[in-house]
Parts: sequence; C-alpha cells; structure tokens
Amino acid sequence: MATAIITGSARGIGAAIALRLAKDGYDIALNDIAESCFENNDIIDKIKAEGVKCEKYIADVSKYDQCEAFVKSVKADFGSIDVLVNNAGITRDGLLVRMSEENYDLVVAVNQKSVFNMTKLVGSVMMKQRSGRIINLASVAGLYGNPGQMNYSATKAAIIGMTKTTAKELGPRNITCNAVAPGFIHTAMTDALSEELRAAMVKQIAMGRCGEVEEIAGVVSFLASKDASYVTGQVIEISGGLSM
Ligand code: NAI
Repeated sequence: MATAIITGSARGIGAAIALRLAKDGYDIALNDIAESCFENNDIIDKIKAEGVKCEKYIADVSKYDQCEAFVKSVKADFGSIDVLVNNAGITRDGLLVRMSEENYDLVVAVNQKSVFNMTKLVGSVMMKQRSGRIINLASVAGLYGNPGQMNYSATKAAIIGMTKTTAKELGPRNITCNAVAPGFIHTAMTDALSEELRAAMVKQIAMGRCGEVEEIAGVVSFLASKDASYVTGQVIEISGGLSM
C-alpha cells in the first residue's frame, strides 16, 4: 500500500486532500501543530472508514528537528513514503508599513521553511525508492501579489521557485514536484473575511463563486496519480478563472 503525508491536515484544504487520497487508496499520515487540532474533529474516523491506515503526527513543520522525527516515524510506521503534500500554511496579514518583523518571519518559517524541511527529508526517502510525488500549496497571492500580504505572497512565490528546483533536482529519480495555486477557497481562512470583502472578491472570479476544498483535493489527487507521471515543475491555478 502506498503512503501519503499531508502537512497541516487536521482541517481545511489539508483534511480534504487527506480524505481524497484515502479514497484513492493511500494510507495516510496526518500532521498538525498540536494535539488540540484533532480534538472534536472526525477526520481520522472518516479516513479509516475508507479502509486505509491512518496515523496522526504532531509536529511544527517550521522546525527542522521536529520534521526529522516526524518523517522518521512515518517511515518506520508505514515503510514507504510515496506522496508528500506540503499544505501547512498561515496568514498574518497587514499593510507593509504596519507589518511587524515578527509576523514576517513567522509566515516565512511556517509557509516556506517547512517546504525546505519536509522536501529535503522526504525527498531523500523518495530518492532511495526511486519514485515519489511532491505537491506544494502555493496561492494566487504568490502569482499576482495581494495588498496586505507581503509576507504570505513572498512565501507562496518562493514555493513556486522551490517546486521548479525540486522538479529539476529529483526528476532523474522518477520524482515529480508540482504546485497548485488556489484562489479564494471556502475555508476558515476566508470565512474570517467580511461579507463586503468576500462579495468584492467573488466579483473578480469568472465562475462567480468561491472554490470548495474538494476542488483543490481533486487536482492534488490527479497530480499524485499515474495519469500525471509526465507532469512536473508546473503550477496549476485553481481559482475559477480569477485570472487568465
Ligand atoms: P487552515 O488554516 O484551515 O489549515 C491550515 C492547517 O495547517 C491548520 O490545521 C493549522 O493548524 C496547520 N498548521 C499551521 N501551522 C502549522 C505548523 N507550523 N506545523 C504544522 N501544521 C500547521 O488553512 P487552509 O485554508 O486549509 O489552507 C491550506 C493551505 O492552502 C495553506 O498553505 C494556504 O496558504 C493555502 N491556500 C489557501 C487558500 C484559501 O482560500 N483557503 C487560498 C490559497 C492557498
């Protein structure tokens, strides 16, 4: 049985990706930053109901030593690591002149350093296996910029560069690396926005609505599948036609 690791997967897009990959037949290694993220949460039961193995690993993916212990445990528990989805991410929005250095550094650590940590560690497991799929969560903010998100857009643009470099370095070992760039997706992150702001955002979308988490998970499932065996180093925008 093949195994998929999804970082930051107790809720939101990460949980939807984990459930979709379980439906595709993968054993699932869930991750989040604290045990409390899995309280009052039925994601583990939902995944197990698909008949696959599922374990949760508490690790702050911005910390290299915690990622090292996390990846070592997954390898010991599951044997192989076939898919890595670098999904964990946070926002600390604010206009540039008011953004604190602390909030800049925190977003870089969680969104960007985590991709280095996990790709380095899981990449070396995949290189020995001579196969693997890595899928990174970028964002339209990384492609086009977004006022109030100097920190976040920097990390999401960085992830695109990291995706292409990983694709070039690991391609000869039969490892693909791609990114998805979601637009406005219906999650806790976007629920926090005012009705007014959400209406203004939706106006810019060709399809006239926000996306659902399952619509991100479906594209990730494709990138992890056999059908995507010759797709690497690409960024797939999933935004309902926000920009074209
Ligand atoms: P969310 O906030 O609902 O879920 C993120 C998860 O990551 C949470 O469970 C959180 O506890 C976990 N997490 C945070 N810091 C962590 C750390 N240091 N270590 C381990 N886990 C950590 O967010 P959502 O909306 O599901 O976003 C998932 C990804 O998709 C993020 O990378 C985000 O930037 C990206 N994205 C989301 C969009 C949206 O509209 N919701 C749009 C574009 C990209």
